[in-house]
Amino acid sequence: MPQQVLVENLKNLNVLVTGAAGCIGAWAVKLLIERGAKPFIYDLTENRSRLHLAMEGADDVPWELGNITDFKGLTDVIKAHDIKAIIHLAALQVPFCKADPVGSTQVNVMGSINILEAARQAGIKRLSYASSVAAPAMGDNDYLATLYGAHKICGEQMAAVYWQDWQVPSIGIRPGIIYGPGRDQGMSAAPSIAMLAALEGLAYTVPFSGPLTFCHVEDAALRFVTAISKDQTGAPVFDMNGTPSDTSQIIDIIKTQTDVNADLNFYGGAMPFPAQVDNGELDVLLKVPAYRSLEKGIEETLAHFKSAKARGFDTGALANRLIEGST
Ligand SMILES: NC(=O)c1ccc[n+]([C@@H]2O[C@H](COP(=O)([O-])OP(=O)(O)OC[C@H]3O[C@@H](n4cnc5c(N)ncnc54)[C@H](O)[C@@H]3O)[C@@H](O)[C@H]2O)c1
Repeated sequence: MPQQVLVENLKNLNVLVTGAAGCIGAWAVKLLIERGAKPFIYDLTENRSRLHLAMEGADDVPWELGNITDFKGLTDVIKAHDIKAIIHLAALQVPFCKADPVGSTQVNVMGSINILEAARQAGIKRLSYASSVAAPAMGDNDYLATLYGAHKICGEQMAAVYWQDWQVPSIGIRPGIIYGPGRDQGMSAAPSIAMLAALEGLAYTVPFSGPLTFCHVEDAALRFVTAISKDQTGAPVFDMNGTPSDTSQIIDIIKTQTDVNADLNFYGGAMPFPAQVDNGELDVLLKVPAYRSLEKGIEETLAHFKSAKARGFDTGALANRLIEGST
């Protein structure tokens, strides 16, 4: 089915997007609205700042304040809005899991089972959810095992059992490192902060070096959105690595596109996660365009920050807050 047909299947579809106050979620909401779907945000916070950064009209998006660990709250919202598809993105990332092992397991594991069970009870056949590049890092290899990666593996396996035992279909997507407007928290947010810093003429140092996989947030959101554009079967899981890159290459491109003398640096060891090109199977399934190049992605990120600034978004305050928070 060509991409255009898949996209037409989204028209008037009621979609619950968990964690859409976050980076990928904000862009998924933007893309859903552009395709005529009706997204409902389900998040712990009603902080619309990433949504405002991603799109115009953020104040009009329906928003349900809720916790994915609250099964009744979740199912009430699904019933109230006649939800037919779910994009499940709410999660706590690596540093938050390390800081709160029990609380993060409730969110990442219990929250995920709640989504699967809610989908089963509502007969939902369109579910995409975020795993992570931290999942294949688990096991017998040289990458870093994290509690977060263990949570994501658990989510994938629970999804497989929900298909096997109750025919609840899902598509699990393992993002590599996401960059772009809105990417501002988690251990790999630094390159996106560097882009904003360079634009605002501020100094910034990325606290890692070496190779990484780099996926523009709109390319990522497109894949989560396309994955719910038709009923599914099975519970496959796919890597979504984006473009393999290197920290020094990213810094060089940002400088070339802003100011060659920008005070951007990096230090430290490599990111401890896989950094190679993915096998392309997700793109074949979804028939989506290839990931944008690094140069184009950085250029578009910078242009997006500029246009957000032009419509009144305070990118300077955001840059200062992120730089202070990361030192
Ligand atoms: N950003 C990346 O580079 C990356 C890489 C791999 C995987 N992922 C995964 O993709 C998904 C989205 O990532 P992101 O960068 O957009 O995340 P983010 O950290 O920007 O946003 C996560 C959102 O989840 C919400 N949330 C947290 N706990 C919640 C709860 N208990 N109930 C309801 N909402 C809750 C937060 O308020 C936040 O708005 C996550 O599952 C993440 O693990 C992200």
